[in-house]
Amino acid sequence: MLEVGCGIGTDAVNFARVGAEYAAIELSEKSLDMTKGRFDVYGLKGSFYHGNAEEVASVVPIETFDLIYSFGVIHHTPCPERVIEGVKHFMGEESEFRLMMYAKNSWKNIMIEAGFDQPEAQTGCPIAYTYTRDELHSLLADFEIIDLQQAHIFPYVIEKYVRYEYEVVPWFASMPEAMFRALEKALGWHTLVRCRLRR
Ligand SMILES: C[S@@+](CC[C@H](N)C(=O)[O-])C[C@H]1O[C@@H](n2cnc3c(N)ncnc32)[C@H](O)[C@@H]1O
Repeated sequence: MLEVGCGIGTDAVNFARVGAEYAAIELSEKSLDMTKGRFDVYGLKGSFYHGNAEEVASVVPIETFDLIYSFGVIHHTPCPERVIEGVKHFMGEESEFRLMMYAKNSWKNIMIEAGFDQPEAQTGCPIAYTYTRDELHSLLADFEIIDLQQAHIFPYVIEKYVRYEYEVVPWFASMPEAMFRALEKALGWHTLVRCRLRR
């Protein structure tokens, strides 16, 4: 598998632990070094490429991967279309591309637009595009969408969460679990897409 934007390797170590032949491209050298360090600690193997995913086809040697995976990355780069174009070079008939992109029609985006929230916990994130389902279908026009669903509303008090205290904000704490899950399905921040290259 090829991960586009592995960050500090949170998902990477889990993929490799269960036997994935793992490769990644990551823009931040510091994050990539942390991922490599985590692989060393756990005695895992991987191939790591430092570079811009918008140029993935000239950074990562071309080969066909079963899975191309990118969680919360492509909406942070100036030209997401270039990443999508590049990914195609690594896909064969059976390959699957799984990505998470921020959802425009989401609770989080409603709160951002109303001035109650920001895209990331840290301030100053330079780019965080959001997409409607239609916009994702256009971005992925050369792909056959197998599954597309929304998930994830962050329910915790952020100031406490960063201290590992998991207190749910009062407006979600009083909501029955089934209602919260329904809200996540309709207005979740994460659009999760599984697709294959059209032939
Ligand atoms: C929010 S983090 C997600 C990291 C990881 N996928 C995860 O879920 O833990 C976004 C990552 O995308 C990387 N990134 C952003 N733009 C990129 C680009 N054009 N090429 C490669 N990596 C990029 C950032 O450096 C950062 O590590």
